[in-house]
Amino acid sequence: MTTATPRYDGLRLKKFDDAVFDDIDTLRSAIDDRIEQLLSANGQSDSLAKAMRTSALSAGKRMRPLLVMLVARDLGCASPALIDVACSVELVHAASLILDDLPCMDDASLRRGKPAIHIQFGQDVAILASVALLSRAFGVLSQSQDIQPATRARLVATLAQTVGDQGLVRGQFEDLHGGARSPEAIATTNELKTGLLLGVAVDMAAIMCHADESVSQQLRAFALAAGQAFQIKDDFLDGAGNDSAITGKDTGKDIGKATLINTLGFDEAQRRLSACLIEADRCLGAAVGGKGRTRHFMGALFAKEAKGTRFIAEPAKPRELRPSPQLAELRLN
Ligand code: IPE
Ligand code: IPE
Ligand code: MG
Ligand code: MG
Ligand code: MG
Repeated sequence: MTTATPRYDGLRLKKFDDAVFDDIDTLRSAIDDRIEQLLSANGQSDSLAKAMRTSALSAGKRMRPLLVMLVARDLGCASPALIDVACSVELVHAASLILDDLPCMDDASLRRGKPAIHIQFGQDVAILASVALLSRAFGVLSQSQDIQPATRARLVATLAQTVGDQGLVRGQFEDLHGGARSPEAIATTNELKTGLLLGVAVDMAAIMCHADESVSQQLRAFALAAGQAFQIKDDFLDGAGNDSAITGKDTGKDIGKATLINTLGFDEAQRRLSACLIEADRCLGAAVGGKGRTRHFMGALFAKEAKGTRFIAEPAKPRELRPSPQLAELRLN
């Protein structure tokens, strides 16, 4: 009997008869359809247009736009403009990945199971595509229908602050130039380079839903704690024992780098990851209650790491004849 070799396939949620996961799948398709539409609107098909589309539409988890949509639903809001808000965050993420992989940055060659954008299209086109995706993200926010002017201004300001020299860009700068430093300094870098983009996803959902300040603050604390956990998990994916064919990206890029795993050691980094997930779980519960779609999605993202939190659903009762006690399985972990 032959066993098929596992291959990178983005995030595949195992299908059970659970409406939440059907809904997440539907949302992912809607996000991809809308990105496709936004990036084909000008009718161009040259290598710049192809690089932008390849970067934004290749097989990623779509975690950030899904967070926008799911948190908004948990807050009981269904504005038709949410999808554009969600797409704007994913366009920023796609732009950041192009730059992150460049030879002058992480010098990575594989992204989402395919050659990195600069390998496919050249460094010049990759840089231009990244700038164009960033610019398009703000264009989408500025042009989307059904957003009140004051809300639109807040969305644009929040996203700009997240990306700029006090946000993601600073985090990437520290990551490249920070050298050996304390675990707390590394955690700050991780917050800037990774946490803030999760933070802006929930901030924008809260802005769109006119959430109370206390709820917005709990949501942000949730996203920042989840971001810390997510970067540690990502750093584990870079390490020994992981296969690029499964992770979809280069491994071994963090050797000799100031990551939490390299600084604290494997066990302490694992402990931090768990503590961050418990904190994320607590804050999400305080913001939207113990149930909800975001919680299910977090359970799927951190299927291995989140045991003991409410992110992982209670085991089904035996007589319900469910195929597994867990509602979802993240293949990429
Ligand atoms: C990768 O993010 C970059 C980090 C912040 C660690 P994701 O793991 O969300 O990448 P995709 O979008 O699923 O490819
Ligand atoms: C990158 O962190 C965070 C970004 C802002 C893109 P990493 O450099 O660890 O992300 P991967 O491992 O290349 O996806
Ligand atoms: Mg990097
Ligand atoms: Mg990288
Ligand atoms: Mg990494």
